[in-house]
Amino acid sequence: MLHDPNLIVGMQSVDDAGVYKLSDDLAIIQTIDFFTPIVDDPFVFGQIAAANALSDVYAMGGKPLTAMNVVCFPARTMDIEILKEILKGGQDKMIEAEATLVGGHSVEDNEIKYGLSVTGIIHPDKVLTNIGAKLGDSLILTKPLGTGIINTAIKRGVADNELISRVSESMARLNKSASDAAQEIGVNACTDVTGFGLMGHALEMLQDNKTGIVIYSSQIPFFPEAEELAINGMVPGGANKNREYCLKSVEIDHGISTHIQDILFDPQTSGGLLISVSKDRVQKLLDLLREKSIENASIIGEVTASPKGKILVK
Ligand code: CO
Ligand code: CO
Ligand code: CO
Repeated sequence: MLHDPNLIVGMQSVDDAGVYKLSDDLAIIQTIDFFTPIVDDPFVFGQIAAANALSDVYAMGGKPLTAMNVVCFPARTMDIEILKEILKGGQDKMIEAEATLVGGHSVEDNEIKYGLSVTGIIHPDKVLTNIGAKLGDSLILTKPLGTGIINTAIKRGVADNELISRVSESMARLNKSASDAAQEIGVNACTDVTGFGLMGHALEMLQDNKTGIVIYSSQIPFFPEAEELAINGMVPGGANKNREYCLKSVEIDHGISTHIQDILFDPQTSGGLLISVSKDRVQKLLDLLREKSIENASIIGEVTASPKGKILVK
């Protein structure tokens, strides 16, 4: 159907997931994501892929219900035990999310790819979209940036084990409690920071061109190693693509180093939630996030009257 009145969030919007109303008090959220391994440990990769796939349901404020594995695997040349470990990692996160795996599909491929198609539920009136940010809102980011740069360093074999485990832990962490906190306090907009980087996803919040955003670069949480690695050439191609894409809509103060700028555009895997919340609720939300052990959650900016449709980074 081309114009289905029950489709609350569909392909016309650039939101995190599709939302379809089943009844006056129930809607389903549907999303799918899969990708090639970013860490060597297959169990951890499975955990990260699952946390990443679940994230779009959390970004909409929903509760994941069921999921299906999406698998590409070179069964002829690779030990099947590796696939079993990946699936175990995915299952581990499904248990944590209290979601049920109901099936999946696998195809023979030269390269491993894994992810999930996730279905969640939500009350139709409680959907958190990426539009809706209001003038005067504060913006909260719940996970540190820099995973794209660090993943590049991992691929090139220059990241040490301590850093790999720290960044893996962050990527494997569910956005569940952040989403719960946002719903409990009541927020105006929400999305998760993934492939388009902080700037790309923040711009999605300005689709209606009614407001602008000011970001305070010194308040942004990021893995401290990411800056050093960016200086050493570990910036992924995606960061430059993101920068080009955002060029006309993002204005960055001259004082901000290019390596901090790289972090602003760095594509994230299983990044945190970016939440727009009114000023009178922001401290309550921050306290609740910290209470839920989301220790990196920070206020990184605000929604301003101008420049409309643009981001100013100070
Ligand atoms: Co998303
Ligand atoms: Co997605
Ligand atoms: Co959303």
